Amino acid sequence: MRRKLVAGNWKMHGSRASSAELLAGITAARPYDCDVVVCVPFPYLSEAAVALAGSDVRWGAQDCSAFEQGAYTGEVSVLMLADFGCRYVIVGHSERRQYHAESDQLVADKAKVALARGVTPIVCVGETLAQREAGETEAVVKRQLSAVIHTLGHCASEMVVAYEPVWAIGTGRTATPEQAQAVHALLRAQLRAATPQADHMRLLYGGSVKADNAAALFAQPDIDGGLIGGASLKASDFVAICRAAR
Ligand code: 13P
Repeated sequence: MRRKLVAGNWKMHGSRASSAELLAGITAARPYDCDVVVCVPFPYLSEAAVALAGSDVRWGAQDCSAFEQGAYTGEVSVLMLADFGCRYVIVGHSERRQYHAESDQLVADKAKVALARGVTPIVCVGETLAQREAGETEAVVKRQLSAVIHTLGHCASEMVVAYEPVWAIGTGRTATPEQAQAVHALLRAQLRAATPQADHMRLLYGGSVKADNAAALFAQPDIDGGLIGGASLKASDFVAICRAAR
């Protein structure tokens, strides 16, 4: 039985004050029957670490450099994330792939450097609307995942995978539980071919997950939790989604 995981991706939202309030709301609602993670903007990591210390709510980041240190202006190293107690880092979010031209191999390299420093990468894959309509969903997500599987080798089982169809992100248009499950089943099969641990790996769904659709998504056999954007910015909404994961 896989324990479910719900991760909030705050993206580029919030302030010190609103972050503190959100974290207080999330910790006040403990305990949860799932693992709960918040991926906060870099400047708020140290305060998240203080606010969440001693709780079982984990914190993480939304990206990292593929390099450990050096002359990479503006980048943040996974060593720095580990220094702040981060347990997770999102890599390959479609917004990074789209707006920062991140390639499958760069995403894979980021996942590798994270794992090497004990930070679990949440590797995002997902197709655009045009790709879905062209019948390319399977080929796209398989290509994205395969780069990571090959780069991580025998460590591949230690990542978390998030299926986030681009057309469902921030649009209010959620994949139906059946659509999401179909892709999760494909990803699980691909992972099974790569590692004997595939059935222990957690595959998250992301894209317009809300309190009222979370339970149906999480009830699917290969959906092990969610990666939550907009609905992770309000404590009551995020807590309700976490409650749906059991
Ligand atoms: P929304 O939940 O706002 O659709 O965002 C999903 C997402 O991109 C999480 O990483």
